[in-house]
Amino acid sequence: MSWDFANIQHTIDEEIGNTTDIPSLEAIRIKYLGRKGLIPQIYASLSTLPPEQKPAVGKGANDLKNKVEELIEKKRVEITAAQKGKVSLKAALDVTIPGVAGDLGHRHVLSQTVNEICGVFEKLGFTIYEGPEIETEFNNFTALNIPIDHPSRDAFDTFYLDQKDPATKDRYLLLRSHTSPSQIRVMKKYKPPLAVIVPGKVYRPDAVDASHSFMFHQIEGLLVDEDMKFSDLKGLLTVFCQKLFSSKIKMRFRPHFFPFTEPSAEVDISCYLCGGEGCSTCGRKGWLEILGCGMVNPKVFAAVGYPKNRYTGLAFGLGVERITMLKYGIKDIRIFFENDVRFLQQF
Ligand code: PHE
Repeated sequence: MSWDFANIQHTIDEEIGNTTDIPSLEAIRIKYLGRKGLIPQIYASLSTLPPEQKPAVGKGANDLKNKVEELIEKKRVEITAAQKGKVSLKAALDVTIPGVAGDLGHRHVLSQTVNEICGVFEKLGFTIYEGPEIETEFNNFTALNIPIDHPSRDAFDTFYLDQKDPATKDRYLLLRSHTSPSQIRVMKKYKPPLAVIVPGKVYRPDAVDASHSFMFHQIEGLLVDEDMKFSDLKGLLTVFCQKLFSSKIKMRFRPHFFPFTEPSAEVDISCYLCGGEGCSTCGRKGWLEILGCGMVNPKVFAAVGYPKNRYTGLAFGLGVERITMLKYGIKDIRIFFENDVRFLQQF
């Protein structure tokens, strides 16, 4: 069987030339290049040819195949470009289509609360300090007068790292369970008078539920000078709470115990929602517990090497999630960390 390559080529040129869409082009490709197409047939016929004809037919088939592939590819590019051109031309002309607005991000509601609280204290002359989340047992417990047999030192109440403290070599490092170890860092580094605010993450191996999370945020405050009194603590926290919530709220200091402050107190504010009458937010009590505080225990001053009986100080610590939940009436702590934009967008 002989093949009229020139004629075949001519027919294919014409067919491709007349094509204006991808499906017809694909049909042409199948007709000539497909498994049962003409070009494979030409190759198949080689075995039936006398040896002297084989080279010429083989070459003719190769040339034809290359040429057809090239033409089809060229045509495909042409058709696609023309289609795209049509669409974009139409879109460019339709000036009535509304623009696509990009989504604008903003700070997470917890960061907003942190910034707001830090802002209040900055205006009162405090400096922002940030301590590390990986702490030594000395800073997190020992220096803060938390005895060795205190339950919070238990492996179930604190995340310990599989790495020893390079300074002491015998105690393990841990994830700080409160921001108070930063008190130790600040006092070891600076001499009084000092006033710092330390925001940051803290960790406790609590089972996660509506009011517990293994990670949450605290803000620590520390003010040390030569003549600080409990009335300074009361005044400072009253100004702070009134700025944060409302100038109408009342404060209540309840005696409490923290190893690193003496005396210690828990602070309640009158419920800003019901004004102290009792509602579902305050659990009908009329009061909301918002922070822990006290006068720095002299044992803490001793641990950082401050001279005896020279300084007095006040300290306080508050939970950022708790305050944010109170402020906005949020009932479940988990929602802060789920990254659901429907929640985040509301703040
Ligand atoms: N660190 C305490 C806590 O996590 C809070 C606190 C800080 C209390 C400073 C008194 C003084 O509960």
